[in-house]
Amino acid sequence: MPISTITSSPFNDQKPGTSGLRKKVKHFQQAHYLENFVQSIFSSIGDFKGKTLILGGDGRFYNQDAIQVILRMASANGFAKVIVGQHGIFSTPAASVVIRKKKAFGGIILSASHNPGGADEDFGIKYNTGNGGPAPEKITDAIYEKTLEITEYDTLDSQTDIDLSQLASHDLEGMTVQVIDSVTDYAQLMNELFDFEAIKTMISEGFTLCFDAMHAVTGPYAVEILEKQLGAIPGSVINGISKEDFGGGHPDPNLVHAKHLANLMFSDESPDFGAASDGDGDRNMIVGNNIFVTPSDSLAILTANAHLVASYKGNITGVARSMPTSQAADQVARKMGLDSYETPTGWKFFGNLMDADKVTLCGEESFGTGSNHIREKDGLWAVLFWLNILAVRNESVNDIVQKHWLEFGRNYYSRHDYEGIETESANAVITGLREKVKSLTGTQLSSLTVSYSDDFSYTDPVDNSVSDHQGIRIGFSNGSRIIFRLSGTGTSGATLRIYYESYETETENMNEDTQDALKELIIISLQLSKLEALTGRTEATVIT
Ligand code: G1P
Ligand code: ZN
Repeated sequence: MPISTITSSPFNDQKPGTSGLRKKVKHFQQAHYLENFVQSIFSSIGDFKGKTLILGGDGRFYNQDAIQVILRMASANGFAKVIVGQHGIFSTPAASVVIRKKKAFGGIILSASHNPGGADEDFGIKYNTGNGGPAPEKITDAIYEKTLEITEYDTLDSQTDIDLSQLASHDLEGMTVQVIDSVTDYAQLMNELFDFEAIKTMISEGFTLCFDAMHAVTGPYAVEILEKQLGAIPGSVINGISKEDFGGGHPDPNLVHAKHLANLMFSDESPDFGAASDGDGDRNMIVGNNIFVTPSDSLAILTANAHLVASYKGNITGVARSMPTSQAADQVARKMGLDSYETPTGWKFFGNLMDADKVTLCGEESFGTGSNHIREKDGLWAVLFWLNILAVRNESVNDIVQKHWLEFGRNYYSRHDYEGIETESANAVITGLREKVKSLTGTQLSSLTVSYSDDFSYTDPVDNSVSDHQGIRIGFSNGSRIIFRLSGTGTSGATLRIYYESYETETENMNEDTQDALKELIIISLQLSKLEALTGRTEATVIT
């Protein structure tokens, strides 16, 4: 029996960040905490009576428990049906695929992305709308408002758990719960988008690859697609068994956290192609033999080569990148006569542009790349896009990247993260810079001239909504940039991110060490921000 009299007091810390609500598992396990947020979602998304909800997560600790809670609440709130991935699993891109394919009202995705998992680690929840993408700010703001005033939520009287281990349909007090295979719909869409035959031929002729699933959600997806369907030799997918704590690792595909893969790709045993994905499968890292492809370059290279992939040929309307992402894709867009857009950080800003058919490809420096096939970034999609290009061009990753730089110039790029700073000190850095950038334009910093400086504000070209304070931008007349912003996804203290970019068109300067190439910008940024004085930090925690 549905009951709606469970009372609770509101929490004041349920403001969704860049990608939903993220907290420690223990925090989520407080009485009524998850329920309050879920009820706030259900009370903010409009009339879903008789409609379908998609539900699944990246399999981290607490995933299954949360799913049972949400199923009971969905039934009590009046959903007709919930489609759940087997064992409660959907990668974030797979959830987006299923929301769109089943024409669902929306979906709830349980993930803290690349953050570590386990009883003492992180958990997260977010709501995606019927287009398959993260809810826009007006919905997440409404959810937040509800979390502040909620006093009761609807759930079922009984505490029965649904068996999520078998593919089957169940009745949960009048609501259908359908457990479906987590991989099938996703793999089918990838097969439609890419030339699996060409990739299969390349692999059968000796092309080798290594995909690091980092013990996270993409294990079963990668084994099915790369090994079973495309014929990569068994073992090409490493760390392919998904675990609740990601094997104790930090499932963030970058050179620091996917160190094993990075070492392999720069060794004599290197396969032709390496890639990794994160906790929930939406991020990707691409590495070739002896070359790391920055995510910013990857977006530019996919854009420049999209005509080689049949389903994208002639279909690229424009390209979008988040503000801190390097301008490499802009160079391609300019040459190819495509529109390009600079949006705030976070995938939700791309959704409007894609729904309005203004862009086809989009990406972020934080190892996120995607297209209008869904409304989330998509790790394996990027891997398959690369494999398709490699199969057509029959050249190494290194050659493709070098030729790209020769044609479009090279955007040296690096991000320096200062993690776990006291929130007050981090805010002081940003507040100080906010004042400074008001009068920087036209001034000389070291050998460089500032051509613009601001606190980035974005007006959505589709709905004209304005998002202010999206990060400090300092652009120089030679194309270099320094960006400062605070992370919106951390769960302890504040993380300050500083992004550096320089632009090089001289062939003889195209193979310098990245940190050397960015040295002048790094020095300028530290002086300008008074970072050491305000935070006591002398070194970045993570450099990617
Ligand atoms: C980080 C990334 C951002 C990405 C988000 C979700 O957010 O920087 O590009 O969209 O994770 O994956 P941040 O912690 O910087 O707010
Ligand atoms: Zn992720």
